Amino acid sequence: MRSVYCGALNASNIDQEVSLCGWVDRRRDHGGVIFIDLRDRDGIVQVVFDPDGEENFALADKVRTEYVLSVKGRVRARSEATVNPNMATGEVEVYGTELEILNVSETPPFQLDSHTNVGEDVRLTYRYLDLRREKMQENLRFRSKVTSAVRNFLDDNDFLDIETPILTRATPEGARDYLVPSRTHENCFFALPQSPQLFKQLLMVSGFDRYYQIAKCFRDEDLRADRQPEFTQIDIETSFLNEDEIMSITEGMVRKIFLDLKGVDLGDFPRMPYSEAMEKYGSDKPDLRIPLQLTEIKDLMQDVEFKVFAGPAKDPKGRVTALRVPKGAEIPRKKVDAYGKFVSIYGARGLAYIKVNDKSDIENGLQSPIIKHLPAEVVQAVLDRVEAENGDLIFFGADSAKVVSEALGALRCKLGEDLNLYTCEWAPLWVVDFPMFEEAGSGLTALHHPFTAPSCSAQELKDNPETALSRAYDMVLNGTELGGGSIRIHRQEMQQTVFDVLGIGEQEQREKFGFLLDALKYGAPPHGGLAFGLDRLIMLMTDSESIRDVIAFPKTQTAACVMTDAPGAVDKQQLDELHIRLKSKVSEVKPSADSE
Ligand code: AMO
Ligand code: AMP
Repeated sequence: MRSVYCGALNASNIDQEVSLCGWVDRRRDHGGVIFIDLRDRDGIVQVVFDPDGEENFALADKVRTEYVLSVKGRVRARSEATVNPNMATGEVEVYGTELEILNVSETPPFQLDSHTNVGEDVRLTYRYLDLRREKMQENLRFRSKVTSAVRNFLDDNDFLDIETPILTRATPEGARDYLVPSRTHENCFFALPQSPQLFKQLLMVSGFDRYYQIAKCFRDEDLRADRQPEFTQIDIETSFLNEDEIMSITEGMVRKIFLDLKGVDLGDFPRMPYSEAMEKYGSDKPDLRIPLQLTEIKDLMQDVEFKVFAGPAKDPKGRVTALRVPKGAEIPRKKVDAYGKFVSIYGARGLAYIKVNDKSDIENGLQSPIIKHLPAEVVQAVLDRVEAENGDLIFFGADSAKVVSEALGALRCKLGEDLNLYTCEWAPLWVVDFPMFEEAGSGLTALHHPFTAPSCSAQELKDNPETALSRAYDMVLNGTELGGGSIRIHRQEMQQTVFDVLGIGEQEQREKFGFLLDALKYGAPPHGGLAFGLDRLIMLMTDSESIRDVIAFPKTQTAACVMTDAPGAVDKQQLDELHIRLKSKVSEVKPSADSE
C-alpha cells in the first residue's frame, strides 16, 4: 500500500511516483486547489489535488482532519515562493493522482497541535490520539532506540538477558507493594516486584555472572513528575566485580548512549561522597549545572541570642546554613517573599536573608530582617565565610539538618532555574560513600536495601552502625537520580549482623527472605549491580518535563488510567473465587480517576 513514508520525502524524490498512507493533519481549500497535509510516523508532506482529476478532487473535498488516506502521486518541487523552510519535506509536495479514503474519523476531542489547551486528563483519556503528536512520536521512537542501544551494549559485554517473575513476594525497596490475591491459595497474596533485586542476586548464586533485564517494576508510592507506579528499570547484576568495575561499565554504557544517540560527550563522571553532596548542595542528587553552594555557619551561631539560629546551632541534629546568590540583591522583595513560601513546602519555618549593598558598612550597608538580632562580629564572620560581594543576596536556613538540607537544596535548584544560572547542559556524577542506615522512629532502617554491603567489618558495623558507610553508588544527572546500586552482602554472618542492627528478628528474616539466606549458604559469589530508571533517562534525553511524556500509557497523579478506567470494580463471582469480601459496596469503592 505504501512505497515511502511521508516524512522521508525530499528533493531527491522529485519526479518519482509514490504511494503514501497516513492521517490528514490539515486540509485547506485554496480557491479550487485542495492541499492536504498527510501525516505518518515519519512526518508530514503536502499533497495537492486540483480539479483536473475530477473524481479525486471531489473525494479530497470530503476529507476531514484525522481521516486515514491512501494516496498515489508524483513528487514535484514546490515553487520558490511556496517552499516551507519550517517543514522537513518543505521543498517538495506530492501531486495527487489517486485517492482512497481508508477510514473516516470523528472530530477529535482536541486539535493535536493545540494539545496544551486541554487538561492532561483529556489527553490521557484519548492517549491514542495524544500519541499521534509529533513530540510523542519522537519520544517513543527515541525510547526504542535507547533500549536497543542498551541491549547491544550489554550483549556486547557478555551480559545475559534473563526474565524474573512478576508474581512474586514483597521486595524490600521501601515502597508499598501492589498485591495480587491468589485464587488457589486462600488468604494469600502475591506482590508485584518493586525491583528484580532478590532474583538477580539468586541468578549470581546460580553462576550467570552477568545479568541484565529491561524490567517492569511496581511501587505504590506518592507520585511525582519523575515517579510512576509502574516504571521500567535497566537492571544489572554481576559477580566478581568491585564497585569501580561496575561503575566503569555502566558509566561507559550511559556515555556511549549519549554519544551515539545525541552526539553529546559526557566525559568522565566525577565522584562525590554523600557527606559532601549534603553539605554543599543539601541533596544526595546534586544538580551540578548550578554553581550555587551551601556554606555551614553552625559554629558561628552557637552563642548568639537569636534563638531561631542558636537553637539548631546547639542541637547536634540541627543545621544552620547560608546560601549566597551572587547578584541576588536584584531579586525583587516580592520574589524573596515567594521563596520564603517555597521553602515552607519542605518544612522550613522561615527564610532569613541579608542583602549586601555595601559589605564594608555592616551598620548601614546591609538590608535584612535578622541582623538586628546578631552581633556585628558574627555578621562580619558570615560575610567573610560565604565570601560575600556587594550586590549579593544571602539566604539562611536554621532547623533540623533534614529540613535545612531539603529546603535550601530545593531553593538552590529553584534559583538555578529562575535566574538561569546553568553553567553547562549536562552534569553527571556518581554519589558514593552513602551511610548504611538512617534513623527511622526509634530504630534504624537501611538507606538502600538490607542486602547492601558495608565498607567496614561486621564488628565495626555492630559497634558504630550510625556512622558506618555502605558500598553503594548512585548515578546522578542534572539533579535527577538516574540509577543506583551496590555491592551486596554475600556472606551469611554479615547479613545476620545487618539484620541484627536493623532489628529484623529471626522469624521475620525467615518469612521475608528465607530463600535468599538459604542461597547465601551454598557458595554465593561476591556480587553487585545497579539499576537505572529507563523512564528518567529518556525524560532527560528528550528534555521532557515528566516521565509521563516518555511512557506510552502512563498513570495519572492518583495512580489511575483514565483511558481504560483502571483500577476498576470486579464482579462478585470473581471476588468469591479470590475469597475476598469487600468492606464497602462496590459502588462506593470505585476510585475517582482524576489527574493532576
Ligand atoms: P532504586 O530503588 O534506587 O534501586 O531504583 C533504581 C532506579 O529506578 C528508578 N526509579 C523510578 N523511576 C520511575 N518511577 C519510580 N517510582 C521509580 N522508583 C525508582 C530511579 C532509580 O534510580 N534494586 C535496586 C537497584 C540495585 O541495587 O541494583 C533498586 O531498585 O531512576
Ligand atoms: P523576625 O521576625 O524579625 O524575628 O525575623 C525572623 C526572620 O528569620 C524572618 O526573615 C524569618 O523568615 C526568618 N526565619 C524564621 N525562622 C527561620 C528558620 N528556621 N530558618 C531561617 N530563617 C528563619
